[in-house]
Amino acid sequence: MIFESHAHYDDEVFDEDREQLLASFKEKGIDTVVNVGASLAGCRATVELTKEYPFIYGAIGIHPSEVGELNEDNFTSLKEWCALDKIVAVGETGLDYHWPEPGPALQKDWFERQLALAGEVKLPVIIHSREAAKDTLEIMQAHHAGEIGGVVHCFSYAKEMAREYLNMDFYFGIGGVITFKNAKKLKEAVEYIPMEKILLETDSPYLAPEPYRGKRNSSLHLPYVAQSIADIKGISYEEVVEITENNARRLFGL
Ligand code: NI
Repeated sequence: MIFESHAHYDDEVFDEDREQLLASFKEKGIDTVVNVGASLAGCRATVELTKEYPFIYGAIGIHPSEVGELNEDNFTSLKEWCALDKIVAVGETGLDYHWPEPGPALQKDWFERQLALAGEVKLPVIIHSREAAKDTLEIMQAHHAGEIGGVVHCFSYAKEMAREYLNMDFYFGIGGVITFKNAKKLKEAVEYIPMEKILLETDSPYLAPEPYRGKRNSSLHLPYVAQSIADIKGISYEEVVEITENNARRLFGL
């Protein structure tokens, strides 16, 4: 069965049909979802989703673009949520230099704090890194991220960077971008990454695969991602689904 390793079903674009959508997953072959917190409100909603749906697990963290809302008080809440039963990771956390705000210093600061938190609560970390390859890697190495373990979500760098993350024994979240015609660099990277290190993800509601590019994404579109990976690796669709599920269960301890 398909393991969705990264989605945001707390997003308001799912308000109109969240219940029906999530209820349809099982019969479409999707049996586990990790809902990923990106803001304080998102983390709160993630905890609620894990209570409401047996097949939803949660990750607690603040996206680099949202770290402006963090302070010592609410950082304590993150730590408390991490102790809950169905919370399986810290994240998403990392660096995003695509937008000028918040500035790099603030982003780095809270990234380091969240890495330290992951080490403290002994959970793997979900990394978000966009246009910030070098700084992300430096901070991860300085914080011995290899000992914490985790996944680089929506991996979008080239093969050379994949090698660096492999050296830390990290996993790679591969999503809809792999189906895009212009994703040549990413396809080369996926060819290079061992199958045992790949997780399926959508980042729903974002990054819908072809032929739904630009539309609202959901885990129902994961078969397009799995088929692309199967084509690149020269293995069957079923093997991709099975291996990525085993990988995700190993990483998240499920
Ligand atoms: Ni995300």
